[in-house]
Amino acid sequence: MLLKNKNIVITGSGRGIGKAVAIACAREGANVGLTSRTLEELEQVKKEIENLGVSGKIVIKTADVTNYEEIEKLFKYFYDELGPLNAVIANAGASGRWNTHEFSPEKFATIINVNINGVFHAFKAAFPYLKRDDKKDKARFIITGSAAYPNAMPKFAAYTASKYGVVGLQKALALEYKKENITINSILPTMVDTKLLRGEKAGDGNKPDNVMNPEDLIDYYLFLLSKEANRVNDELIYTNEFEPLKVILKDLSDEIKKDWDSLKEFLEANHFKVYENVKKNRRLVEFLLKRI
Ligand SMILES: NC(=O)c1ccc[n+]([C@@H]2O[C@H](COP(=O)([O-])OP(=O)(O)OC[C@H]3O[C@@H](n4cnc5c(N)ncnc54)[C@H](OP(=O)(O)O)[C@@H]3O)[C@@H](O)[C@H]2O)c1
Repeated sequence: MLLKNKNIVITGSGRGIGKAVAIACAREGANVGLTSRTLEELEQVKKEIENLGVSGKIVIKTADVTNYEEIEKLFKYFYDELGPLNAVIANAGASGRWNTHEFSPEKFATIINVNINGVFHAFKAAFPYLKRDDKKDKARFIITGSAAYPNAMPKFAAYTASKYGVVGLQKALALEYKKENITINSILPTMVDTKLLRGEKAGDGNKPDNVMNPEDLIDYYLFLLSKEANRVNDELIYTNEFEPLKVILKDLSDEIKKDWDSLKEFLEANHFKVYENVKKNRRLVEFLLKRI
């Protein structure tokens, strides 16, 4: 198991991407701290994880990421229940689509507040409890960004601005804390079949082909949480660069998949664009080679 006995907190884990990642972490042996504002959703996720028969602890607590006092108490609670934290996934997010001149200032501010301040609050409140004493096993702070950085989305001005903002936040944190045995990285998905994108239609089985399932993202989070990513810092992982590789890997012989060199040769000859996209993150490619 990849994450045996690791303590991982995931914000926005009542549904969508956070839920899929929470289940994946628990399956890999982690103890998980789950949080969002909706208790029933957290209870449901807890029940689903328990039904898997996993051995790790599952702790749930509601909190609003925009409210620092609540988030401070939340992380103290997770620390008391789980012990030092190996990882925090700042995933809670909000969106909204309006012509910008018709955007209500309150809604605009809320989106910015959840998507930027929420990440800052999680970092600040988690920091005292992050396990930072082992350079061979660094603490991980992972942000769910969006491909809205750098591909701005018209009518999603607040969302786009916020997702640009968290890249800046990551860059500052990665530089500031680079001697602290903590890595700061982001996963930037395109479109995912969740309530945020598809409202109540999420999970109805009719998603367009170009929309990912939340479970498709698990590989990226597990990679950043794994020992293979111990030295990966300040990366922006664009899922759309690696999804085509995952499709290719499914049909490849074990001979080609045996290591980076043979895969590289195959990709250069047959899928040059994919090769160009993935070559900069060889550790992730090697991780995918082991999983697919
Ligand atoms: N779906 C996509 O196409 C897509 C693409 C790129 C990036 N993302 C990013 O992925 C992340 C997860 O979103 P999702 O797609 O999984 O959406 P989702 O299904 O709507 O889940 C969002 C989660 O965040 C929580 N949340 C929202 N506001 C919160 C607040 N103020 N305090 C605490 N928790 C809050 C929600 O719970 P409550 O409402 O109960 O609090 C929920 O658990 C977001 O950062 C989003 O920007 C999504």
